[in-house]
Amino acid sequence: MGEPLVSLTGLTKWFEIGGGMFRRPLHVRAVDDVSLVIQRGETLALVGESGSGKTTLGRTILRLLEPTDGEIQFAGKIVTHLKDKDLKWLRRKAQMIPQDPYSSLNPTYPVNKALEEPLVIHGLGNRQERWERILTALDSVHLTPPEFFAHKYPHMLSGGQRQRVVVARAMILDPEFIVADEPVSMLDASVKVSILRILKEIQENLGVGFLHITHDLATAHHFAERIGIMYAGKLVEMGPHESLLTEPLHPYTQALIEAIPDPDPENRFRERPALPGEPPSLVNPPAGCRFHPRCPIAREGLCDVEEPLLRELRPGHFVACHLAE
Ligand SMILES: Nc1ncnc2c1ncn2[C@@H]1O[C@H](COP(=O)(O)OP(=O)(O)OP(=O)(O)O)[C@@H](O)[C@H]1O
Ligand SMILES: [Mg+2]
Repeated sequence: MGEPLVSLTGLTKWFEIGGGMFRRPLHVRAVDDVSLVIQRGETLALVGESGSGKTTLGRTILRLLEPTDGEIQFAGKIVTHLKDKDLKWLRRKAQMIPQDPYSSLNPTYPVNKALEEPLVIHGLGNRQERWERILTALDSVHLTPPEFFAHKYPHMLSGGQRQRVVVARAMILDPEFIVADEPVSMLDASVKVSILRILKEIQENLGVGFLHITHDLATAHHFAERIGIMYAGKLVEMGPHESLLTEPLHPYTQALIEAIPDPDPENRFRERPALPGEPPSLVNPPAGCRFHPRCPIAREGLCDVEEPLLRELRPGHFVACHLAE
């Protein structure tokens, strides 16, 4: 701990859309000027509503998407524009667990082949050693006995078992960093807990750094030391989970926390204040603070003019709001 694994400086990813012979292309500003650090072995949860740029950020860090601007450092090395052989190094060290356990496995591959493929691509071990690694990886996600699951095809497995295979595949190269993109959102409640527990074990036992993307602040709290909040392509708040949940500084974070279902059955169906309005366009984002059109405390002449930058208002707790104090 205490050693940076991933450092982002001004990371930006815009998608070009439209355009044509006589039309100028437009840009979707999916991730706009995001800077953050994830330490070795640390989990940072990334929370924000649909379309706020979470997946784009995760995929850009892993260089599955080409960054538009800014810098990515991984394990002390600048990887922003790595190519070929060097990129293969990153592919080995950093993995993705995608959201959908159904589409992320090749239906024609049995489990052992799905797990062997990365080892073959990276030229690791002979047949016997690869087989041993496959069994160990299946064990680590509690698919036991591993010999039994190794020969199954995806359609023979439940959703939860498939997602375990996806986790095992992400682990097989001994990565240092994993982006888990809503890894349990498509699973039943009971299965969710067991997958989250496995991810937690991996995090604690193997010292893997995680970026855990989720809609759900309660999961974030359980899983991560720190939480980052994204709104319309911007990181608007980030801090230790205790501090962020008990003393949210950004009006958007405050609204998210208000919307967490109350575990008290008496209050369960209580009307919750919803955020008014829609998230802004990422093609033509509002000037100033991107949240100001929906913000209950926005101040005219300030929030609609000047973009707020992240400021550290509590130890390790940053917020991008002119009015937070
Ligand atoms: N390949 C693409 N081309 C154009 N726009 C894209 C592309 N991929 C994503 N976007 C846009 O970028 C924005 C951010 O999308 P992203 O998938 O990163 O959001 P998200 O926070 O992961 O949302 P969700 O919670 O729904 O998964 C959205 O407006 C989306 O439509
Ligand atoms: Mg997403």
